[in-house]
Amino acid sequence: MTGAEIRQSFLDFFREKQHAIVPSSPLMPDAPNLLFTNAGMNQFVPIFLGQQKPPWKPPRVADTQKCIRAGGKHNDLEDVGLDTYHHTFFEMLGNWSFGDYFKKEAIEWAWELVVEHWRLPPQRLYATVYKPGPGEPSEFDQEAYDHWERLFREADLDPSIHIVNGNKKDNFWMMGDTGPCGPCSELHVDLTPDGDTRGTLVNKDDPRCIEIWNLVFIQFNAQSVAGIADPGVVEYVPLAQRHVDTGLGLERTTAIIQGTKNFSEFSGTVSNYETDIFRPIFDELEELSGKKYQSTLPKHGTAGESDQEKIDIAFRVIADHIRTLSFAIADGIIPSNEGRGYVLRRVLRRAVRYGRTLGFHEPFFFKLVDVVAKTMGDVFPEVRAKQKTMQETIRREEEAFNRTLDKGIELFERELAQERLTISAAFAFRLYDEQGFPLDLTELMARERDLTVDVAGFEKLMEEQRDRARKAQKKEAIGVEAENLRVAPTKFLGYDFVETESVIETVLPGQKSTEFNIVLDRTPCYAEMGGQVGDHGLLHVPGHDRTEVGKLHVTDTQKRGDVFIHRAALAEGRAPEPGEAVRISIDVDRRRAIERHHTVTHLLHWALHQIVAADATQKGSYVGPEKLTFDFSSAALTPQQKRGVEKLVNEKIVQNDPVSWTEVPYAEAKKRSDIQQFFGEKYGDLVRVVQIGGDAKALNGYSMELCGGTHVRTTGSTD
Ligand code: SER
Repeated sequence: MTGAEIRQSFLDFFREKQHAIVPSSPLMPDAPNLLFTNAGMNQFVPIFLGQQKPPWKPPRVADTQKCIRAGGKHNDLEDVGLDTYHHTFFEMLGNWSFGDYFKKEAIEWAWELVVEHWRLPPQRLYATVYKPGPGEPSEFDQEAYDHWERLFREADLDPSIHIVNGNKKDNFWMMGDTGPCGPCSELHVDLTPDGDTRGTLVNKDDPRCIEIWNLVFIQFNAQSVAGIADPGVVEYVPLAQRHVDTGLGLERTTAIIQGTKNFSEFSGTVSNYETDIFRPIFDELEELSGKKYQSTLPKHGTAGESDQEKIDIAFRVIADHIRTLSFAIADGIIPSNEGRGYVLRRVLRRAVRYGRTLGFHEPFFFKLVDVVAKTMGDVFPEVRAKQKTMQETIRREEEAFNRTLDKGIELFERELAQERLTISAAFAFRLYDEQGFPLDLTELMARERDLTVDVAGFEKLMEEQRDRARKAQKKEAIGVEAENLRVAPTKFLGYDFVETESVIETVLPGQKSTEFNIVLDRTPCYAEMGGQVGDHGLLHVPGHDRTEVGKLHVTDTQKRGDVFIHRAALAEGRAPEPGEAVRISIDVDRRRAIERHHTVTHLLHWALHQIVAADATQKGSYVGPEKLTFDFSSAALTPQQKRGVEKLVNEKIVQNDPVSWTEVPYAEAKKRSDIQQFFGEKYGDLVRVVQIGGDAKALNGYSMELCGGTHVRTTGSTD
């Protein structure tokens, strides 16, 4: 079977078991605690948690999911290239039950597909079962054990050999630090020539025995414990319904089926790269580099590889990374200096660095995009639709990095001339800070020379830099959890009023004895959201006889759920008490400056769409009194494009167009492709549309965005 046939055979198998076949979700995750979509179950989290009802009858689905594991909890980046089966991008085939079937069917069907349908010899199969270690959640998974035991017995195999227990690390699956989770059972395949390792290689990171399928039984929601900031401290709250979440690695399964000629020969190489999935990329890379891939693997651990071993590592890294880059960019994730964009940039820079091993000094990586689009475009049309953007983005990144790479390598060589055993933290940090060398790249270059890098020292320098940045931002988080507040939602009156009479709901202590976090029943203060910073203001405590008994400066306004929290510092007298009536006003000049920046953010967004591309989508923004910043996904702008954008925005300011807003049902706004809305953002039933130009409330402006922020009344307003 080809890789495509294996994918299809999986989907057909579950279609016959009444599963709806659904599309892969994009690599840009919905969940805020993820860098990339890292598992098939990500898109189903709201269903697992009971927040959404599954629309399928029966409630079962199957799909192939694009996954990236290059950062965060699940990170395979360092292994890629050094072995034959880890990837940063891969396809995960999965089947799900939402409160429908559970362990029995999940286990029986996995067996049926792998053993009966694909005909993998069951004596080569090992199943793992969850057995918690001391202090670990839940209990021994007897139910899973019993089903596996029966199946192995029926195949005349000894369950005590073929079932291997594992603790939380191997057999309790979590998407991130929090979220739906549960015990899991994995299927491992013995690939040794004789297939008689009796379970001794299971979970030993040995390429001769690898995991192909993970069956997760989602039973809990891992939640942070209220009041404890450490994300590692969670409680496992049982879910109302129990679910199934499975993941079968397509590339691994293909490698095994193709590498063993349908399980008939176990003497040859089983490698994900020796499949029809990767071969076309290797063909192109051989053509471009004039070098041949020879399937060698590093024998001496991670250092001292032979030239051919180095070449083969480079082939594998580059072939893996081009899929990651292509698919991520097709889904709107662009290399950048921050967050997931930086992870992606690191992956790209690794590939470019490995390109040097194959003799590339000019951009070459972008040329592989065509093969990815050609071989994967039937199943994932986005890689064809975005082919040009993928190529352009990668080419520009390569050009930019090639310039610094030479300089960095030269600095590195000079450092080595001093005969060190360790690359110092200061030098690694300098490479990072000045030359854009990600730490893992420095580590990789060090490893090639049998040197180590002072990683702990580097992390310390990074932390110090982050600290400096944090201080520069002067931004303090308000350490109040919404669930501790237990008050009604705050009424926001700040679209129309700059001052209100309000009643104190709660007063919580702040960081200093003169600081407080205050919740009111209503407020004119805008709480930070959608990029717009929180308002500043004044809070007067009139006292019972209306002679002022206290005055506080509101220094920030934040939201926890629907509750607004005013951070306030005592200026005079005393702080207010719950139930007391107060007067609160915003710093109007500051707010107007913010509003000017907010409206111009919309103009900028609109102008980018006109000048750059309709898919230059907003990724984030900062709208403050002193400036605005706007992140969007696109290749870097040319000077000409920058001038074009400036000109358009300035024209619209001079035109002094009306800015208006209106509320519409979300269902209606969603149908309108001319109204900008942000992927991943959660909207309520009624949404606010801010429009520029057009007739008030008619939804015919040239710029229309779903936005809860505050704006000036006309584009040229200087109020
Ligand atoms: N969520 C599990 C995994 O990613 C099974 O799909 O391994």
